[in-house]
Amino acid sequence: MTAIEKTTTVTRTPLSPFGEVVTAPHGDGDLRAIPPATLEEWTIAAKVLVLRGFPLLSTEDLVSYCEGWGEILTWDFGAVLDLVIMDEPKNYLFSRSDVPFHWDGAFAKQAPRYFLFQCVQAPPVGGGGETVFSDTTEVIRRAGDDLRRDWGSVDVTYRTDKLAYYGGQVTASLLATHSETGETIMRYGEPLDPAVYQNPVFLTVDGVAPQDADAFMTDLRDRLHDAEVCYHHEWRDGDIVIVDNQALLHGRNAFRGDSSRHLQRIQIL
Ligand SMILES: [Fe+2]
Repeated sequence: MTAIEKTTTVTRTPLSPFGEVVTAPHGDGDLRAIPPATLEEWTIAAKVLVLRGFPLLSTEDLVSYCEGWGEILTWDFGAVLDLVIMDEPKNYLFSRSDVPFHWDGAFAKQAPRYFLFQCVQAPPVGGGGETVFSDTTEVIRRAGDDLRRDWGSVDVTYRTDKLAYYGGQVTASLLATHSETGETIMRYGEPLDPAVYQNPVFLTVDGVAPQDADAFMTDLRDRLHDAEVCYHHEWRDGDIVIVDNQALLHGRNAFRGDSSRHLQRIQIL
């Protein structure tokens, strides 16, 4: 048990293969009682933190709490994105499909270091829509020296139309350095087949021979989706999930049946 302050005592339980659940056993947690520096420390250590027993904050309170942590990334819609399924979405994020791995903020002026989800409404059990996290620090550790060296000279250009709140063209090195831990991380957004996804992202890979690009992306896919480096989060109502957006890539499983879901997301630079 860890005492945050007199009114809140929490238990911390590891998830597999990474991550941690922080539980306020009586459902009486208050996110605002956890100093942002403590939350950041826990998030860095676990990479993904699941808070349970912490009643959700109003949008205003969530923004004001996160402002105590760092600058908030704002978009056309403001600071908090309502992620809901739409009947006729223009972009795959709001559809019932899966979402391939990516990091948040690739098309922003600066990518957030962290993001936080509040789960207003979880899908029913078995309804899909799990968020999947891949630990790129572990993928890089497993790759071996030769492959790591090859990856070090790869740049990927991403291009998408701005039909939702993001878009444009950006080039990113495949490998980067984590601003807080100094670890080598991977920045990669998986290609989206235009026949399957609305508003897809198109990739150009530099640093790999053109005839090898497909094999390169297939190999990356296999490594990133290896079950030993992935945590699948099954949402429950009221979950608060905090993510290290540098160490991890994330995506989503498709929804099943007519299940729905409502998450609120805020990103911290
Ligand atoms: Fe995302």
